[in-house]
Amino acid sequence: MNGIHTPVLLKESSDFLITDTGGNYFDATMGFGGHSSEFLSKLDTQAMLIASDVDEAAFNSSQKKFSADSRVRLYRFNFSQIDIMAKLEGIEGFTGVFADLGVSSFQLDEPEAGFSFKHNAKLDLRLDKTLPLNAGMALNTLSEKELSDIFFQFGEEKNARKIARRIVENRVDGKEWYSADLESIITRMVPPNYVRKTMTRVFQALRIYINSEMEILEVFLKKAIDLLVPGGRIVVLTYHSLEDRIVKEIFRKEEKPCTCPPEFPVCVCGKKPRLKILTRKAVSPSDEEIQANFRARSAQLRAAEKL
Ligand SMILES: C[S@@+](CC[C@H](N)C(=O)[O-])C[C@H]1O[C@@H](n2cnc3c(N)ncnc32)[C@H](O)[C@@H]1O
Repeated sequence: MNGIHTPVLLKESSDFLITDTGGNYFDATMGFGGHSSEFLSKLDTQAMLIASDVDEAAFNSSQKKFSADSRVRLYRFNFSQIDIMAKLEGIEGFTGVFADLGVSSFQLDEPEAGFSFKHNAKLDLRLDKTLPLNAGMALNTLSEKELSDIFFQFGEEKNARKIARRIVENRVDGKEWYSADLESIITRMVPPNYVRKTMTRVFQALRIYINSEMEILEVFLKKAIDLLVPGGRIVVLTYHSLEDRIVKEIFRKEEKPCTCPPEFPVCVCGKKPRLKILTRKAVSPSDEEIQANFRARSAQLRAAEKL
């Protein structure tokens, strides 16, 4: 615990991930290094931990935190470039790959970061501030249909069409969008006790779109599984059902890849299983953990082992 972000399912993540205390590990979402610190406390001097984060504040903080630990290599890279980071470090395979998806408490609490509608900040929602398109620009340029599809697909928001229409009606050339602008649109559309939930879904949808989170997650998972050594493990924490579905589906397809019709007596497609799922049901935080850290409430941990 570091006050900036409380790591979720810490012991469970470490217990699933670490199978060899001298192995090579990858923390895709280092953040403020809560999980990384726990893993390092279990690893010995020959181990290596490569860790990435696209967020500048998180990267700078972790760089300071781990500067004296020669086992650690940090990259301000997107985790979809896991293969490049492995190559740069001369690593052919990982003993364990870990990802704790989404945003940190620091990103949610920091008004400047603009990830929460608690503060009336300019709508940005880029995890990586070097990306060309931010949320305000998307609201000004996408069509009503595109906005509606984003809110529906990535936010599972039933008022998606109405919200998209109001946004398009409210935009003027070069408009700077603030979270309060979205809130006033939504307040006029849904009962008061639904405003928060609707804002959460709209923010989530825009963040997923702006950061291409679903596409990037798929690319990352496939590369990570390729890079695991036999017996190596992948452990992923998700915070909403769309992410969790992707992890679950990819693990399932890697465990049972055969595409032969069920009536075939033997497999002829030749696709071989590459993973064994270790969590038939996703692991959730205990009531005590949720009580101590409310943001843990939606976490789901899934783990699998390379065959
Ligand atoms: C939930 S936080 C991780 C917290 C971390 N486990 C800890 O204990 O401090 C998620 C982090 O992942 C980063 N992140 C999200 N998507 C990323 C991506 N595609 N590539 C690299 N970092 C990413 C975010 O910037 C954020 O710092």
